[in-house]
Amino acid sequence: MGDLDNLRLQCLSCRKCEPGTTRTNLVFGVGNPNARVMFIGEAPGEQEDLRGEPFVGRSGKLMDSMIAEVGLYRDKNIYIANMIKCRPPNNRDPLPSEQEACINWLRAQFKIIKPKIIVCVGRIAAARIMKPDIKITKEHGVFMEKKGVLMMATLHPAALLRNINQKPLAEEDFRILKQKIMEVCPETYNI
Ligand code: URA
Repeated sequence: MGDLDNLRLQCLSCRKCEPGTTRTNLVFGVGNPNARVMFIGEAPGEQEDLRGEPFVGRSGKLMDSMIAEVGLYRDKNIYIANMIKCRPPNNRDPLPSEQEACINWLRAQFKIIKPKIIVCVGRIAAARIMKPDIKITKEHGVFMEKKGVLMMATLHPAALLRNINQKPLAEEDFRILKQKIMEVCPETYNI
């Protein structure tokens, strides 16, 4: 069994917060454990909770189609996870204490996967992982380096569904992402 499978098993029995006791399924993550590029969202919604997989609802489908345009696929060359592994009841925002309780699972995923590039999907993930005061409307598509890892935020696909005029902005983020991948981990396109 791989390290990531092992970690998933440990995570399955975590009951450190309320969502851990009310969820339907753990939403640990999906994708290639050898991926160089990791996408991080906020927390599972209803569909994710039912399926046990991140980004499988309407917004996830939109994200899949946009990243496919730049040659990225969850079942091939990337890994996708959330900061929070269990759906908060009634889709409420995760409490700060729940974020704290859960973030170590994500840190452990980073340690095993060792991504070269992290894409934060939406402001909440970008604020927690990149910088607390990030202004996503201005700073999406801009790379920064933290502890040797390149990080970029992109607009959340749920926001694009609410305002489809913004879709070209996210498409541009993913073109910038592709260029960065070609520079630092072109092997992504041979996995
Ligand atoms: N939004 C997220 O941030 N993550 C998911 O898994 C689904 C929707």
